[in-house]
Amino acid sequence: MLTPNLHYRDLKDSYLFAGIAGRVRAFQETHPGEKILRLGIGDVSLPLCDAVIRALHRAVDDQAVKETFHGYMPECGAPFLRKAVAAHYLERGVNLDEDEVFVSSGASDELGDILDLFSRDSSALVIEPAYPAYVDANLMAGRTILHLPSGEEDGFLPRPSEASRADILYICSPNNPTGSVYDRERLQKWVDFANANGSVILFDAAYEAFIEDPDLPHSIFELEGARTCAIEICSLSKTAGFTGTRLGYTIIPKTLERCGMNLQAMWVRNRTTKTNGVSYIIQRGGEAVFTPEGQAGIRKNIRIYKNNATILMQALDTLGFRYFGGRNAPYIWMKCPCGMDSWTFFDRLLTEDRIVGTPGAGFGACGEGFFRFSMFGSPEDTKEAAERLLKRYSK
Ligand code: MLT
Repeated sequence: MLTPNLHYRDLKDSYLFAGIAGRVRAFQETHPGEKILRLGIGDVSLPLCDAVIRALHRAVDDQAVKETFHGYMPECGAPFLRKAVAAHYLERGVNLDEDEVFVSSGASDELGDILDLFSRDSSALVIEPAYPAYVDANLMAGRTILHLPSGEEDGFLPRPSEASRADILYICSPNNPTGSVYDRERLQKWVDFANANGSVILFDAAYEAFIEDPDLPHSIFELEGARTCAIEICSLSKTAGFTGTRLGYTIIPKTLERCGMNLQAMWVRNRTTKTNGVSYIIQRGGEAVFTPEGQAGIRKNIRIYKNNATILMQALDTLGFRYFGGRNAPYIWMKCPCGMDSWTFFDRLLTEDRIVGTPGAGFGACGEGFFRFSMFGSPEDTKEAAERLLKRYSK
């Protein structure tokens, strides 16, 4: 008899966001017609910008004509998009070969797939609170996971220590869920640590476009030594509204080697085997993101999300609630009021105020007592949520 992957028994019954969606659906069914304000999952609410829409339309038309039609796309990405991403990195001083850029169908897919590069005996360090897919993807593979808790005392930006020695190191900056961002000095410590120990950093840069402080690094490859120890996974989901369209990219330097094996070459081998590339149409849409018009369009949307953050932060300041993030990241990580645990607060907010957020405990044990608000909702909903919070919690 076939034995299924027994490691699935180590997983919780449902994935965090699927579980929350189920609870919210059940509540909505018993309260039809009531307006629920959704500040839970980080899903965008603004449409794709004009430059992207026009490129998508043009690409659809290309598919209608024999001369411009595309069948299978190159597995590692269309040259035009790899070039556009490399040029974008060059603008911030990071020099990449175009074939160090791999086009993906989004960061969440890639964060799971990339683990093919590593032995199942390798260990993974997850700095918590963390995006829950890091832990779940490694549980599915049966890897040993080290949980490194972070907290208010270190601003949710822990430094490496002997206890954080592992083969794979996850770093997400700007961080989901805490909104904290590593500065150069602190991030350099992790790069040096990884090089000293032969570890590989999986750097999740999905929220880099929300950084506004000029001194903060957007890419780990801005740091010295990263080319021998890091892989960067990025996405156009939050940067450019591609959550439904699906597109991302991964940077694997050709200088990244372990045990005499080259990880960039291994990923080429993996992609050519396991994918037939990302849709031509979507990649043309992605290319448009990196044009001046596309950059102006996505900046306009990001400003709207940032304004949502300002509205909510003002309300939390008025209430005297402690929080992190919101400035260089699209998440606000708030301490639950009155010492409530995070699921109790989730239930209260949903049932009393019709607001959905994400309980901190869903991001790891040390997230207990905190709550995450996403800034990707509509300005109207965010404003209304701020007003409902002010009404409920003003003394
Ligand atoms: C989140 O809410 O943490 C993200 O939207 C989930 C994701 O990117 O898959």
